[in-house]
Amino acid sequence: LEIDPFIAALPKVELHVHIEGTLTPALRWKLAHRNNISLPYKTYDELANSYKVTYNHRREVNGDNGAPTFLEAYFAGCQVLCTEDDFYELAMDYFKKAHEMNVRYVEPFFDTQAHTRRGIPAEAVLNGYLRAQQESVGKYSVRSNWIFCFLRDEALEDGLDAYRAALPWARTRDGKGKGLFHAVGLASNEYNRPPLLFEEAFRLAKEDGLHITMHCDVDQKDAVEHMHEAIFDICDGAGTERIDHGLNAIDREGLIPGLKSRGIGLTLCPHAYHRRQATEVLFPKIRRLWDEGVKICINSDDPTYMHNVWIDGNMMKVYKYCGFTKADMVTLVRNAVEISWADEGTKTEIL
Ligand code: ADE
Ligand code: ZN
Repeated sequence: LEIDPFIAALPKVELHVHIEGTLTPALRWKLAHRNNISLPYKTYDELANSYKVTYNHRREVNGDNGAPTFLEAYFAGCQVLCTEDDFYELAMDYFKKAHEMNVRYVEPFFDTQAHTRRGIPAEAVLNGYLRAQQESVGKYSVRSNWIFCFLRDEALEDGLDAYRAALPWARTRDGKGKGLFHAVGLASNEYNRPPLLFEEAFRLAKEDGLHITMHCDVDQKDAVEHMHEAIFDICDGAGTERIDHGLNAIDREGLIPGLKSRGIGLTLCPHAYHRRQATEVLFPKIRRLWDEGVKICINSDDPTYMHNVWIDGNMMKVYKYCGFTKADMVTLVRNAVEISWADEGTKTEIL
């Protein structure tokens, strides 16, 4: 996928990227050796091949072609991340790449539960990301505010424990936190795990002064019901400020007006859907959201596990297949700025 010079030069903002989903085979190989972790692959090529995943989170839906599901591969990748330096390096690798693509501002997702459940202390994760957040400003001119993710296929109590442990690293209302993250999100396997199961967690985060977003992934079981809950039910319809993915809004009447009246933007990741949907099916849906006036922006999700298509490749795809003009592409970036939670000073600096 060749990146048009206009897309390459465009200043960008990324609001939907999982930092653990940017782990390259090269860094994973290096960290496995550094940390004495044995990989189930004999060669680097075998490791790189394990990034060829199936789209659906559920094995029985994919059919068994031997490939791991995306989440299996993603959490397997996490196993090499052990020390504060590892998390720092992972994030700095991403910031370097972001800088090369003219990305100015990012709101990366991170999981702590994926690491603490392997016995890694939360402080290693949080301090590593915090150091990268601070250093990337001077080194790569990339600013970031991060998003703590609840793993929705783990128990609510587990998520609450992880959240409480991470809270000293948040930018909370009282101004006392270390300022790494300013929002919470909801990720991992959505199957039979509707947003309302986590309402207590969202209420708590809201009280702490944090922003709220949640994944409503495309074509999951109960996708439109999950969207309905996210828009209308969480915190009595005053909870989520964005929805990650949310393409199924076009499938039920009332969802698009709900998004628009509340100013809820969608962080779309076109390549993630393009892996499964034909060009002529997918891009008209994105175009329709745009034409209906929904605030959408374009992102990469988990680029190293999705054929190495980063934000520039995702923008390229909508430029090519949605019939967007150059001015429209600028508007997409402006949408991202608008629905971002950067402070006003940063917002004016970004573009
Ligand atoms: N966590 C990280 N990447 C994810 C994805 N693509 N879907 C659901 N949960 C995730
Ligand atoms: Zn995502």
